[in-house]
Amino acid sequence: MPRHAIPLTALALSATLLSLPLQATTSDEALRTETRKAIKEFAGELKGTLKGALKGSGPEGAIQVCNKAAPAISRAIAEKYGWQKVGRTSLKTRNPANAPDAWEKRVLLEFEKRKASGEPVQKLEHGEIVETANGKVYRYMKAIPTGKVCLTCHGTRIKPELAKRIKTLYPEDRATGFRPGDIRGAFTVIRPLN
Ligand code: HEC
Repeated sequence: MPRHAIPLTALALSATLLSLPLQATTSDEALRTETRKAIKEFAGELKGTLKGALKGSGPEGAIQVCNKAAPAISRAIAEKYGWQKVGRTSLKTRNPANAPDAWEKRVLLEFEKRKASGEPVQKLEHGEIVETANGKVYRYMKAIPTGKVCLTCHGTRIKPELAKRIKTLYPEDRATGFRPGDIRGAFTVIRPLN
């Protein structure tokens, strides 16, 4: 056997292990692909609605739209796919209804670590099959980067009139002080598996 045979095998094996996280199967991959597609749709609808509202009624009007439209779009996508949950969460939420559960919090903290070690925020995602009291579910999260347009309502200097309006609608708001490139939060999905 040539002398390089062993290290090469070891290399190939570790590459395989690295590219296949914990017991990945084709069905995991299929779940992930399909979930990504739905998230893309969700993100597109949110962005379109936000843009239209900003253009039509400025940031103060857009707050009202986000308040009503964001939860409605979440529900519509979840219903369309027949999934338990399609939503957004964050370590610092505006709407307490979006607060992370223990699993989501762990993934959000993991995203912060991965970002700190150099992974681009756009690439941060995590999918996992989780056992629950009601059976197996597929859980998936994808990080949401903070863009420039987000700073109007989530940044470090929010106009006083707008800040007042936000406080009225969201007395427990913690979703300010973000800077471009920060992880604003994440999309989150729960799919029942039968
Ligand atoms: C016009 C003001 C406005 C702008 C601009 C805005 N948001 Fe928000 N954002 C809100 C409001 C209001 C909510 C609460 C929605 C709700 O009640 O579910 C919210 C909630 C969120 C949430 C859900 C978690 C939470 O904090 O409750 C995320 C994630 C989020 N925004 C990300 C973004 C990103 C990313 C951008 C830029 C692309 C952005 N937002 C731009 C007003 C805004």
